[in-house]
Amino acid sequence: MTRTILRGRVLSFHRTPQALDDAESYLYLEDGAVCIEDGLVVAVEDFAEADVAGAEIIDHRPNLILPGFIDLHLHYVQSQMMAAYAGSLLEWLNTYTFIEEQKFSRQGHAEAVASDFYDALIRHGTTSAVAYCSSHPRSVDAFFAEAQRRNMLMVGGKVMMDRNAPEALCDTAQSGYDDTKALIARWHGRGRALYAISPRFAITSTPEQMAAAQALVAEHPECYVQTHLSENDAEIAYSMELYPDSQDYTGIYEDYGLLGRKTLLGHCIHLNTRETGVLAETGAVAVFCPTSNLFLGSGLFDRERLVKQGVRIGVATDIGGGTSVSMLRTLDEGYKVLQLRGQRLNPFASFHMATCGNAEALGLAETIGSIAPGRAADLVVLDARATPTMRMRMGNVETLAEELFLLQTLGDDRAVAEVYVAGVRTKSALADL
Ligand code: GUN
Ligand code: ZN
Repeated sequence: MTRTILRGRVLSFHRTPQALDDAESYLYLEDGAVCIEDGLVVAVEDFAEADVAGAEIIDHRPNLILPGFIDLHLHYVQSQMMAAYAGSLLEWLNTYTFIEEQKFSRQGHAEAVASDFYDALIRHGTTSAVAYCSSHPRSVDAFFAEAQRRNMLMVGGKVMMDRNAPEALCDTAQSGYDDTKALIARWHGRGRALYAISPRFAITSTPEQMAAAQALVAEHPECYVQTHLSENDAEIAYSMELYPDSQDYTGIYEDYGLLGRKTLLGHCIHLNTRETGVLAETGAVAVFCPTSNLFLGSGLFDRERLVKQGVRIGVATDIGGGTSVSMLRTLDEGYKVLQLRGQRLNPFASFHMATCGNAEALGLAETIGSIAPGRAADLVVLDARATPTMRMRMGNVETLAEELFLLQTLGDDRAVAEVYVAGVRTKSALADL
């Protein structure tokens, strides 16, 4: 059995840091050793204490070793349509998105995009993600087959959508149910694959399809559920026209039994107090997608209000409404959104959110999102001196908090020096291809 030891500055979170001086919320080793066997972390300790006999030692000093980033909401089928010029959500969906996603009916297209998409994730240090595929089952097969090939823990599902979109993209309540059922049987729990039942949002699902999604959720409590909620004013108004009997937008999903601890709700920007109460009560997760919210002019996520009311939260890129694959860029834009709300997010809380926090949101904190014995060795190595500008700024950095803040403010894929998936060096292997 091969034993690998990564040497470097190790940082991993136990819980949400409450302030810059909340040192008990994380583990930091100035000269640390992450010992890996069979894809799992078996020890994390000072390098001086590590049993180095017979181990392969990879020296990443002076770089930081963190858990790989987790992206809680993205559309891999929109990888080739980031930066589409649109005024707001519904125009963006109708003009670009619903056209782009039709390409996934073609043999070979999904496989090619999936391969490029995973390369991009790895380059940016993201080792797990929760993804919407298109309405075509083959897009899900391509998504999970490529994840399996790379041994990555990925969550995803076929988008269910049976109205208010081009016919070529629509399923029906029955076919959406049947296809989802077959995909769950084929993929959920196979290797590291986990399935998410994925009604796109209220606007593109008839009440019959919502009922079908409800049946799927009841029949498959082991699966995640993902949809969009309260992103844009026009979207909210139209949703309420389509579901006049529901109390509010959240009420629609509530009425169809879609809310629970495994439910991930993209955006959650314009919620009323009843809605935040329902999210807190059901344990559904509000997913903050800052680059997308700014790009589509959707609004400013109110993190403090949601946290105060007991809503679980996570953070994500929302490719391709989002404008970067990078979780560093996402944290930076998230910081700026919260600045506009008068809410300053400290860099420890930021990096916690993109790692351990998102793992907790998935209920997978025992598996991914931190560096500890028994966790998957899914890791990112970050270099705060990756560019001339970063190097210059690092000359004036004295604390770990300052370094993290520099990484999130100025960093991108160039700051990702290496990535490990289940203990295997992955980013440098891409460069070798
Ligand atoms: N709402 C429904 N579908 C989508 C989508 O693809 N992207 C975003 N940002 N919002 C949505
Ligand atoms: Zn989305």
